Amino acid sequence: MRRWLMTLALTACSGIGAGAQQELPAGEGREVVVGLCTQCHGLREFAPLRHSREDWQRIVADMVSRGAAASESEIGIVVDYLEKYLGTATPAGAPAGEVAIRATSVVREAYTFDRVQVMVPDVAQAVEWYVTRLGGVRGTLPDQVVFGKALIVFRARTSAPGGTGSSVDHIAISFADLSAAMKAFEGGGVKILEGVREPPGLFKLAFIEDPWGAKIEVVQDPELLGFHHVHVRAADPEAVLEWIVETFGNTRARLMERLDGVHAGAAWVLVQRAEGDVPPGSGHSIEVLGWRVGDLDSAMADLSTRGVGFAGEPHTVDGRRSVYLQTPAGMRIEIVEQRR
Ligand code: HEC
Repeated sequence: MRRWLMTLALTACSGIGAGAQQELPAGEGREVVVGLCTQCHGLREFAPLRHSREDWQRIVADMVSRGAAASESEIGIVVDYLEKYLGTATPAGAPAGEVAIRATSVVREAYTFDRVQVMVPDVAQAVEWYVTRLGGVRGTLPDQVVFGKALIVFRARTSAPGGTGSSVDHIAISFADLSAAMKAFEGGGVKILEGVREPPGLFKLAFIEDPWGAKIEVVQDPELLGFHHVHVRAADPEAVLEWIVETFGNTRARLMERLDGVHAGAAWVLVQRAEGDVPPGSGHSIEVLGWRVGDLDSAMADLSTRGVGFAGEPHTVDGRRSVYLQTPAGMRIEIVEQRR
């Protein structure tokens, strides 16, 4: 049972500027659809479409083959919803009569966590290590390594500005078979910080370190393989979590009903209270968290309406536009334009 899928439903926000084509009518199953179908892309990929039941079945099966993690019963709920509210009986773009969208039931599309930026002395070397030792996949750009639904972007250390008040303690990658992964790490000379343990009620986990001193948690959580979570330390965890929820529309949830965090679509963000001051930079090399957006200008307009400020001007790196946000506790968070 995928516990967290059930808690993914977005909070309905009234009057937030989502275009009509990005909305889904209120109705039984909508929360399951939103939770399941916005993990990799937005509502706009399918909300404007109208299909027969058979076509929706085929599309949902296609999405499952691409990695949408749904149980049989969730698939049934999703197909029923799509047939009823996005069926051929409803004209494209028009809300289904009986379930006309009321302002109060509009779902604001949540932004999806996309990446962490890791500072290293040599980008090509780091990419090589994360691919050969950790099993990542080279991304479309030479400084990216993809793990499941999110990615790591490497930057040369010299460009790293310092953060204050918070820091990323570690990232976590989830493997289907952690014991096998650990054997491969040992064989490959990867530094192991803590061997495998399985705390009650949690999954198997261990800690390793990359050659440049970044701590990496490796876990076995079949419900989310690949990039699993970022673990942040902050003086005021509550403020950080609430800011992420408010800003990106992500959902507060408890990982395995134990760890307080935010499920940000592609990965979890967990925040733990930092003891004492968090020194700037604090020697950690994982520095920036990124959420993906479709179009940078409209995302900036959307975020501005919710009072989010920007730290500096939008900039373009490798043809991708991004901008840093003003965040609580000096966390470094950016939004990055996604090109498809
Ligand atoms: C694991 C990631 C993932 C999840 C979860 C996911 N999708 Fe997709 N979806 C994709 C990708 C990748 C594409 C782009 C496919 C392409 O361009 O060939 C896509 C494209 C689409 C398209 C356009 C292509 C088409 O076949 O018409 C629709 C519609 C769609 N998704 C619907 C859904 C629905 C409905 C859900 C929820 C059941 C869902 N998706 C969940 C990854 C996902």
